Amino acid sequence: MPIRLIHVSDLHVGAHEERPIEPALRALVDHVSPRLILATGDLTHRGRPEQHERAAAFLQSLGPPVLAVPGNHDIPYTAPARFTRPWVEFERRWQTTEPVFSSDELHVVGLNSARPWRHQSGGVRAAALARAAGRLRAAPAAALRVVCLHHHLIGAPWRSRKRPVARRGHILATLADAGAELILAGHIHQSAVSERREFEVGLPAERSVTIAIAPGLGQPRPSRHGEARGLHVIEADEREISIETLVYANDAFTSIAVRRYPRRAGAGSS
Ligand SMILES: [Fe+2]
Ligand SMILES: [Fe+2]
Repeated sequence: MPIRLIHVSDLHVGAHEERPIEPALRALVDHVSPRLILATGDLTHRGRPEQHERAAAFLQSLGPPVLAVPGNHDIPYTAPARFTRPWVEFERRWQTTEPVFSSDELHVVGLNSARPWRHQSGGVRAAALARAAGRLRAAPAAALRVVCLHHHLIGAPWRSRKRPVARRGHILATLADAGAELILAGHIHQSAVSERREFEVGLPAERSVTIAIAPGLGQPRPSRHGEARGLHVIEADEREISIETLVYANDAFTSIAVRRYPRRAGAGSS
């Protein structure tokens, strides 16, 4: 049985009326019946308590279990709360900024890349990266190993001033060495999907890591070009991982692309 996941990001609840997307999203969730919904940050626009409440209620009302990590918009916008209690509202709804989901077939590790003293760019502390690597290594033998964080490890296909997460090469190599097969993120409000060997040549053949950046589910700045609303539907069996990009327009989700990658090098070529 393949594993199905729905990956959403950047809801930005509170910035713009997100209600109209609800019927189409509920229909999609019912149709896909994902094992898990993954939400990679910027659930809210300003990190306010009522925005966190609405975002969590919305995601948790969809049916499947939800795993969420915080984005740079999920912390208080202003000092001193931004620095003294950045994670209180997020943790009130989601318990932790480093969630883990584990079953025999699926092992997901969350990383917190939001940094209160930075507005846009993200970073992952060395200790948090080490914890994530340890958690990945604890995965059941046959489980699909997934990492979720907010900040992107590959760039936007259209223009964006947003830079990838700091030290991304080191983060990617550490997670890959710990067994990560799929790394999910958001932040750029555009879909970008790649396999590590597409941009880092000369890697050992057995290493295969798929990186998928979800488009924004919300659209806080509708006039900004190059930011379609949408999400990713992920399906994985023992041979391959497929990432389907769906965009939202005219009250419906439309499939735009399906990208498939072997779970191990050579697995898809026999
Ligand atoms: Fe965002
Ligand atoms: Fe963001």
